[in-house]
Amino acid sequence: MCARNFTPKFSRNFTRSCRVPARSICQPYLIRMSRYLVQKSGPLDGEVHISGAKNSALKLMAACLLAEGTHTLRNVPDIADVTLMSGVLEAIGLSITRKQEDHTTTLVIERGPDVQPEAPYELVEKMRASTAVLGPLLATVGEARVAMPGGDDFGARPIDMHLAGLEALGASFELSHGDIFGTTDGLVGAEIALDYPSVGATENLLMAAVLASGSTTIINAAREPEIADLASFLNRMGATVVGAGTSRIDIVGVPELRAVEHTVVPDRLEVGTFLAALGIAGGELTLHNTRPDHLEMLVDRLGAMGLRISPEGDSLWAMSRSRPRATDVATLPYPGLATDFLPLLVAVLCFADGTSYATENVFAGRFGYVGEFARMGAGIRVEDHHLVIDGVESLSGAPVRAPDIRAGAALVVAGLGAEGITEVRDGYHIDRGYERLEEKLRAIGAPVERVDD
Ligand code: UD1
Repeated sequence: MCARNFTPKFSRNFTRSCRVPARSICQPYLIRMSRYLVQKSGPLDGEVHISGAKNSALKLMAACLLAEGTHTLRNVPDIADVTLMSGVLEAIGLSITRKQEDHTTTLVIERGPDVQPEAPYELVEKMRASTAVLGPLLATVGEARVAMPGGDDFGARPIDMHLAGLEALGASFELSHGDIFGTTDGLVGAEIALDYPSVGATENLLMAAVLASGSTTIINAAREPEIADLASFLNRMGATVVGAGTSRIDIVGVPELRAVEHTVVPDRLEVGTFLAALGIAGGELTLHNTRPDHLEMLVDRLGAMGLRISPEGDSLWAMSRSRPRATDVATLPYPGLATDFLPLLVAVLCFADGTSYATENVFAGRFGYVGEFARMGAGIRVEDHHLVIDGVESLSGAPVRAPDIRAGAALVVAGLGAEGITEVRDGYHIDRGYERLEEKLRAIGAPVERVDD
């Protein structure tokens, strides 16, 4: 079947009955307000330890639902989204212990026999990645109630492909009072062709299919490194997944999985953030705990802007000594340039010696940051799904708002090339995805402070 255009059935009978009051679950996971204060920086110099990938860790945490026992996830980033996902899993009935080991965080996740298959709105609305519990809950409990995520700063962001794909595996869904309620008498493998290589849909289907009876093939699957990381975790748990990281994934369902240990893949988006900072402030950096093979398109585009970058084992050395060159950039699903890199590259191009075109092909509405760059004096305008950027030598520090995680970080790094103080408000977006960004930047010479409000 073709996974597209899912239209939920509206049920009159189904009423929301969250068995644990949402308020008590969600209270510890309230978002803490913060601001980032940034001053113009001299050249950067030093070494940075890159954390584990947020976009992988969140899905690996959800995958722990698939097997009873004690799971251990190493190299988990210490960020607000991991706390939120812990909240979702704790609401479902898992218990999570966090340990600090050698500058990294390890999560020990206990999944017992009893779970309550509900992800409450109060947490899902803060982090749409919580929808990743849908596939694992249907596969293990045969039931899942997950608040339907609303739109966000990227635009509408539907989950129709997740739902249509899970229906092809034998689940049924109803939408009632803002919740999606899924049930199944047992998932059965199927061939599913995605209209678009959605990361979230591929992951949800993968996590459902590993315990389905029979074989599943996902055609036009997303190829992001985080999907290969999820598949390697699932295979270690006893699943049979072949082809993850390519556009065809074959899965043979198994009756049960076991709890295991796994180390989260390094965060390629954090690498992009420090390289963007280098492109603006200049200097020389070595980034440790990276996967250079996941960064080819980013390195190509930054190379075109004039940065010199070379891999040294699992580290990346980079140097920038001159004003960036104007360059065109365009996002595509992996192995194309990740949409999450775009605001960071736009920040660099704001300082380039000419006019650049930046094209967003993945999320049509992902230009919420343009007005904020304009407040800092950037020569930037939107034309359909393109940005036209007339580079300037320096920006002017101003109060701005972070509209989402990566655009927030992009405003911070833009501040490194701005006269005066740049105050990036709504810093909680940045805190969702970055581990101690201000400390890591300060350690390489960038004057950045984070203030709790
Ligand atoms: C994930 C990442 C996000 C990244 C994005 C694309 C996480 C937590 N987030 O988001 O940082 O920017 O991949 O690399 O891993 N779409 C539909 N219907 C669906 C699903 C998606 O129309 O059912 C559309 C989306 O609106 C978007 C495109 O497909 O236009 C890509 O979305 P998708 O790959 O699913 O992104 P996410 O998994 O949400």
